[in-house]
Amino acid sequence: MENSDGFVPVLKEKELKGGKMKLVTVEGTPILFIKQQGQIFAINNRCPHMACGLIGGTLDGLVIVCPCHDWRFDLTTGEYEEAPGFRLTKYNWKIKSGKIWVNHEEET
Ligand code: FES
Repeated sequence: MENSDGFVPVLKEKELKGGKMKLVTVEGTPILFIKQQGQIFAINNRCPHMACGLIGGTLDGLVIVCPCHDWRFDLTTGEYEEAPGFRLTKYNWKIKSGKIWVNHEEET
């Protein structure tokens, strides 16, 4: 089910708990949802370094640490702390009717 604006429902809002991650796949794109400090982030699960799955990483405040080489990415900007420009792919999302919707084509 896709809206005319390109958003698809992927999770119930209450399924995404604070401090946790949820991985969904939308038309072959692995999208990792993270709720941290009351904020929601939707990022591509593949690390921009060597494509390791970020679902195996750890959260440190508003930073996600990749499990493969410990690169630290700021969830708010998407940037690698030590080399801005290397960044996470982020997606637009919204909450509607108790569900989280994502647009997997429109990257932010
Ligand atoms: S693959 Fe993520 S830091 Fe290397």
